[in-house]
Amino acid sequence: MKLLPLLTGLLAGPVAMAVASESDLMPAPLMMETGPGQLKLTPAFRVAFTGVKNARLTDALTRTLRGMEERSGLLFARTATGEFAVAAGAGSAQLVIKCDTAGEAVPQLREDESYVIQISSSRVLLTAREDWGVLHGLTTVQQLLQSDSGGWFLPVIAIVDEPRFPWRGLLIDVCRHWQPMDVIKRNLDGMAFVKLNVLHLHLTEDQGFRIESKTFPRLHELGSDGHYFTQDEMREIIAYAAARGIRVVPEFDIPGHATSWLVGYPELGSAPGPYAIERKWGVFNPVLDPTNEEVYRVLDGFLGEMAALFPDPYLHIGGDENNGKDWSANARIQQFIRDHDLKDNAGLHAYFNQRVNAILRKHGKKLVGWDEILHPDLPAGSVIHSWRGPDGIAAATKQGFQTLLSNGYYIDLNDPAAHHYLTDPDPATGSLTSAQHSLILGGEATMWSEWVTPELIDSRIWPRTAAIAERLWSPRKVRDVPDMYRRLAIVSRRLAEAGLQHESYIEPALRRLAGEKATAEDLRALRAFVDLLEPVKEYKRGSQQPGATQFTPLTGLVDCARPDSGPAREFAVAVDQLLAAPRSAEAARRVETMLADWHATAQHLLARLPALSPQLAEAQPLLQALADAAHAGLVVSGALQEGRALPEAALGQLTAAVKPAAVPHAAVELPASHALVRLVAVHH
Ligand code: ACM
Repeated sequence: MKLLPLLTGLLAGPVAMAVASESDLMPAPLMMETGPGQLKLTPAFRVAFTGVKNARLTDALTRTLRGMEERSGLLFARTATGEFAVAAGAGSAQLVIKCDTAGEAVPQLREDESYVIQISSSRVLLTAREDWGVLHGLTTVQQLLQSDSGGWFLPVIAIVDEPRFPWRGLLIDVCRHWQPMDVIKRNLDGMAFVKLNVLHLHLTEDQGFRIESKTFPRLHELGSDGHYFTQDEMREIIAYAAARGIRVVPEFDIPGHATSWLVGYPELGSAPGPYAIERKWGVFNPVLDPTNEEVYRVLDGFLGEMAALFPDPYLHIGGDENNGKDWSANARIQQFIRDHDLKDNAGLHAYFNQRVNAILRKHGKKLVGWDEILHPDLPAGSVIHSWRGPDGIAAATKQGFQTLLSNGYYIDLNDPAAHHYLTDPDPATGSLTSAQHSLILGGEATMWSEWVTPELIDSRIWPRTAAIAERLWSPRKVRDVPDMYRRLAIVSRRLAEAGLQHESYIEPALRRLAGEKATAEDLRALRAFVDLLEPVKEYKRGSQQPGATQFTPLTGLVDCARPDSGPAREFAVAVDQLLAAPRSAEAARRVETMLADWHATAQHLLARLPALSPQLAEAQPLLQALADAAHAGLVVSGALQEGRALPEAALGQLTAAVKPAAVPHAAVELPASHALVRLVAVHH
């Protein structure tokens, strides 16, 4: 590895080689060495630039220093006009930034994002070839800030870092539920903090057309309920992202998922219409008519307008879940398929993509689409975005297409961080050739917004997306799940400090859910209870709440439950330890303390439900299930401790008592039920 000699010798004096993950950093850097000692942080902290100094770097520095001030309570030296004071030269600075070249106005795919940090007991030296690397290095410095009884400090350390994949994204669907500017901006802050570099904005859908079009204004005027980004606002987002080293890739989903296009322009559809904004979730029939030349005239005008607005060379055209029903029902469209030898609806979709690709090329853009667009006739140079299954990457690269992975990164489906973390865009095993491996650009976490409002979207994105960010940035071998969770808890607190609301939304949401008569004790119990819950996974919520629409309030129990329950995970570890050492008093104590707490919590809330908000009534069966299961767990643990066998009849009752806890209700589940079932089963 060519960087190793570079790393060795960056630190003066004795060093300890550290595995990348042996720190709190997330994503873990490519390589690092720690040394003895600290760089003490004092109000005299000053910065010097010895290479490029531009507005992007000084703005990033200001954000970093302000973040360090807010964490530490220290006040760094400022100029008369309030800017952070810059040292006269490197000799008198505690942070020296040496950047060789300034990047362009906005980042592109495959920028040099590498950086090197050397911290001694007297200063930090941050070196990068381009300013994109400096941005990443500054977030690393901010993450390294820590304290002990002697005060705030940065550890003596040397870091050589660069990303594994060039495309590390977060998709935000602003259509199903509108997500305004402040949501986008604070999540861009979060993305920058974990070194993600692509914001994929899903801008058009059946449920909303969320970008202003000056050429075809009925698109946003009639397709959005008034909730859309103006072009000025979009320029602001693009600039905000670029200042953080993040590209903005827009998606205009066509030909399906296109109801909102047709509200204002029904003549572009494959059925007569009229069309109304869709309010429900699912796959719908409205689809553009690829046989209508007017469709291409509108796409040329609209995509040309968007090509000028969005500087990124890549433009996502969706292409997913086109059910073809309105094509099949239209005799003229079917005749077109026969006349043009297109064979079937899939052939017609491929024809449409070729026409769209020609439009994109004319406007200087490269096509990205979901994996349904993979077809032998797809133009070379297109990027396939895999979402449907684990074979998408192999299928796309086998045909020579560059590819992105989102299958496994669907954060809207409420899976635990570990599930996403262990999903690798580049499968180590399997039959990919080296040419195929080189076509894998990276991946994107996908925040589809059927079940999120601006109030709770952060809690579905964070902190789990930080684990995905690490998968996309850090070496493949960094995959220790317990250590990931240890660091995820730390980075989650840092993200909250940076303004993300994944923690702060919960108390007001619970207060509203509990109702006016809730006491402090009720709220404490409710918080303990929802921390044990998780929203149902995969696409189960749709079947648990079949009548839900865009207007359904997302203020219920499930909306206060968050993915990846920490207490449930801790409980599972404690149960495994107890099962491994059934006579261990320590292991039993851990399990029993939790179960006794849960039992008391459930009993308290069961007694208080009549006084609390009627909206909380749906919690009753879950509270009863928790109380019963916790009680059964306590009986089993007690018997284990005493080495006492339980009679067959009692065992049957205990087994029955834990079962209801494993059944989802009100769109939430009790993940601790799995460990409880294991615990009770030990007696069989
Ligand atoms: C998708 O989830 N339909 C791309």
